[in-house]
Amino acid sequence: MSKEGIARLIRSDLATFGGYTASKSPEALQEEVEVPVEGIIKLDANENPYGCSPRVKQALGTYPYFNIYPDAKQTELRKLLQGYTGVSAEHIVAGNGSDQLIDLILRLFVGPGDEVVNCVPTFDIFRFSTEMCNGKLVEVPRDENYFVDVSAVKRAISKKTKIIVLANPNNPTGTPTPQKDILEIVDTGVPVLADEAYVEFSGETVTQLVDQYKNLMVLRTFSKWAGLAGLRIGYGIFPPEIAEYLMRIKLPFTINVAAVAAVRESLADIDYLLDRVKAIVTERERLFGELNKLKWLKPFPSQANFIFCHVLNGKASEIQQGLQNRGILVRYFDQPLLRNSIRISVGKPEHTDALIKALKEVVS
Ligand SMILES: Cc1ncc(COP(=O)(O)O)c(C=O)c1O
Repeated sequence: MSKEGIARLIRSDLATFGGYTASKSPEALQEEVEVPVEGIIKLDANENPYGCSPRVKQALGTYPYFNIYPDAKQTELRKLLQGYTGVSAEHIVAGNGSDQLIDLILRLFVGPGDEVVNCVPTFDIFRFSTEMCNGKLVEVPRDENYFVDVSAVKRAISKKTKIIVLANPNNPTGTPTPQKDILEIVDTGVPVLADEAYVEFSGETVTQLVDQYKNLMVLRTFSKWAGLAGLRIGYGIFPPEIAEYLMRIKLPFTINVAAVAAVRESLADIDYLLDRVKAIVTERERLFGELNKLKWLKPFPSQANFIFCHVLNGKASEIQQGLQNRGILVRYFDQPLLRNSIRISVGKPEHTDALIKALKEVVS
């Protein structure tokens, strides 16, 4: 069949669908960067520079049952997460990364023409999954410091609104949303998804409120604080009724056995991991101070493991390219609501030193 023939057969609403732009892996960049892959300083995807707990590597090296399907009911995993969050297992559903749960939640609530209120600029998967459901994004711009405009969110609610999505702290800006603002939005009665992917770095959560509200959902991940981005393990805390629906509509085996073993070992090594979270938070503040000294950058205070900066003088794309040529990867944006800016993940102290030196070279 000709290419045109296939294009005629796919869903017409997906013909012009804009996908999600993910960061490139170091292997994919090998050709483009002048330093060896091992020397690349990866500050573009908010990963954990310290890696995972050594216990995870040990456990996976000796795991005996890769030939057996995982537990579709996530029984042990939900118990482990109950221990970590303090919320009972019936509230918890895990996914292949929290992005898969965003997709599952939107598929549960959103059909063609239904509206999703989104506080932009924010994590692009909210747009991606809304469009995949044929839903309509209702975008509410954040204020000039990227805080949520609560009254505008409330005004954006219509009869067609199915869910309000809110990353706290926000990606890519690192901005927190105070609990009172979240509660004001939850009080509208519309389902609210509070995405707390960076909660271990911010310390602010509404998890404990899920029990009191039938319309509040919270998402978390092991990608950032536990260094497990490559194993894909996220989870959500839901009112039990919603958790039950999600368990029903999810594909059975989205969490693989390696991810379950990794969660078990990470939680058994929690002090080690939380020490590294502390180191990242300390480094975030030092990185902020160093970026602030560069007169041509305006960094924004962050509660996450990255710092967002406006480029006041020069072009973000050229800065990103100049850093990449020196083996340092950061993310740049130049699109409506995210003009001429870069986002830098917090690395180890030596990564900050190398970054600041390279930024000075690139801009001189
Ligand atoms: C706000 C937000 N939510 C969810 C995710 C997805 O994380 P995961 O690796 O668990 O899919 C990210 C990743 O960058 C994020 O920034």
